Amino acid sequence: MNRTWLSPHLDARYGNSTEEILFTNLSYGTRVVGQEDSWEKLRSVAEGKDLNGDPWMARAKAAFLVRSEGETEWPDFIARLETHLRQFVKKKSGEEPPRATTREELMELLNRAEVVFRETSMPSSYSGPAEHVGPLMHKPERLIDFMFDHTRAFLEYDLEDHSQDLAFGLVEKFFDRPAMKLRYEQQFCIPRTTQLRAQLMVERLKPGSRVLVLGDDDLVGLALVEMTEQLQVDVLELDADLVTFLKAKSDGRFTVLEHNLRHGVPDSMKNCYDAVTTDPPYADDGMRFFLECAKASLKKEEDSRLFLTTFPGLLESPEKFWSDLNDLGLHILQTHKHFSRYIYNNTYRVQHLAALRYLGSPLHPTTELLGFPFLYAHFFECSLESSKA
Ligand SMILES: C[S@@+](CC[C@H](N)C(=O)[O-])C[C@H]1O[C@@H](n2cnc3c(N)ncnc32)[C@H](O)[C@@H]1O
Repeated sequence: MNRTWLSPHLDARYGNSTEEILFTNLSYGTRVVGQEDSWEKLRSVAEGKDLNGDPWMARAKAAFLVRSEGETEWPDFIARLETHLRQFVKKKSGEEPPRATTREELMELLNRAEVVFRETSMPSSYSGPAEHVGPLMHKPERLIDFMFDHTRAFLEYDLEDHSQDLAFGLVEKFFDRPAMKLRYEQQFCIPRTTQLRAQLMVERLKPGSRVLVLGDDDLVGLALVEMTEQLQVDVLELDADLVTFLKAKSDGRFTVLEHNLRHGVPDSMKNCYDAVTTDPPYADDGMRFFLECAKASLKKEEDSRLFLTTFPGLLESPEKFWSDLNDLGLHILQTHKHFSRYIYNNTYRVQHLAALRYLGSPLHPTTELLGFPFLYAHFFECSLESSKA
């Protein structure tokens, strides 16, 4: 009998009503409607049992929520990507790349297609009024870098991710979280990313450390207290719904304060944390005040740490981010590339595709190259430079 486990990309949300739970494999874009007892069934799989013969489980397996040894099927969009990359290379260079049937061959094909794309098909810059378009449209080469970077990251890390360590308890805790609010620039990461961030922080920090979370739509504060009793965790968050949710889920195991970071951190929270973690806004101004709050709340000590999530390639201005870090004396000790995953929703996908098409990028393979399911961000471990502490 084949061993089974939960997909690392499993998530659960309400469906059309609060009676309906949608269990989704975010990597494949496949979903199954569940009932109350589906939780129990998935929990059993997480505990190593195989519910062979259960009809709902059979559907969960068909939707890749549950994985088995020896499975090799790739998400749908990969087949289209492979076909269009080969056709593109052939059309533009006359070469006939062989069909790619392994992940390594797919990587090679992508590398070749990228060279050909950059030689023959780069979109031109937008020269119309600036107020209608974001910074990425003005610098289409950044969109192209993003497109190839994210496709490559998916192939490298997610296409054949067979991790078997999903903390299903977090998926259960998180599933009735408040809806994402764009007005607070929310864009929360997938449950396993929250799990891995919290695990890494627990590994790095001494028992008894005080940790501050600045803005917590990713629910890292909650994951930290679920994983250990050894840390003292506080959260500052602007979204009142999120604050209520976090308080209800935490049974007082950590402190959550509704607070606008534009006013800085409260005086009582300055210079007193061993670690701060945050995933700041992508606009220059938002990034700056989040970093200032992080710096203000950290103890001015050598082993104080900032665990910072962002993706420089999608920031309003990456140069400003690097100079802000430098200005504030925040020194990067380690970078975990493509550590965080967020759903790449169709609104963003269509915006990116429309911008690239408008600027002259070819329909194929641009459409297929924007087919990846996740936005990625890096995870930076930072310390305070002693001269600027
Ligand atoms: C800023 S969002 C970042 C989202 C993510 N980095 C992105 O844009 O892809 C992170 C958290 O900060 C909270 N937040 C936003 N503005 C805030 C403010 N002025 N003060 C406190 N929290 C804030 C949001 O509600 C959310 O929970």
